[in-house]
Amino acid sequence: MCPKILVIYDSNTGNTEKLAKAVANGAKLVCDVSVEVKRTEEVDLQKVGEADGYAIGSPSHFSIMSGKILTLLTKLYSLRNKMSGKPMAVFTTGTGAQVIALENIDRILGVFNPMFIKPGIVIETVPERANPWEIDEKQAMNLGRKLAEATIKDRRSAKICKQ
Ligand SMILES: Cc1cc2nc3c(=O)[nH]c(=O)nc-3n(C[C@H](O)[C@H](O)[C@H](O)COP(=O)(O)O)c2cc1C
Repeated sequence: MCPKILVIYDSNTGNTEKLAKAVANGAKLVCDVSVEVKRTEEVDLQKVGEADGYAIGSPSHFSIMSGKILTLLTKLYSLRNKMSGKPMAVFTTGTGAQVIALENIDRILGVFNPMFIKPGIVIETVPERANPWEIDEKQAMNLGRKLAEATIKDRRSAKICKQ
């Protein structure tokens, strides 16, 4: 079976969802990797440990990660041994506190002993200041591609399938 990447995100108004899809599209560029994208509420806890790599995305809520992401990570704590050592990437959006949200998630994920894929992505979503989405999408796809390449353990066998 080919390595599986799970992209998990929370999103109320679509910004983090857009980023999650771009990260997933970047991961799909790498051959022989399967990619699943799930909202927090769609995640089957028992299947999370079966994935080989993870991307986790959250909006900043009250300067920290969203409650749904925190709740999910709290539930996953008991499964941390199954996630230990696997590649993990983080992405956040916000109107100022997106970096803090990313740092929050990084700190919690540290308990899972991951192979961090850094740098993660922080996107400011204040409409009048946000960067053109094309640039953000390229960054996001690059993070997804790096995650997929790390997930295929033998990097020499990681090939780009699509342009
Ligand atoms: C309840 C709530 C609280 C928020 N608090 C913050 C905050 O403290 N700092 C910040 O930078 N953005 C905050 N935001 C803005 C969101 O993080 C931002 O709009 C984000 O891009 C929304 O992502 P989404 O479209 O995926 O839901 C908040 C949004 C909501 C709904």
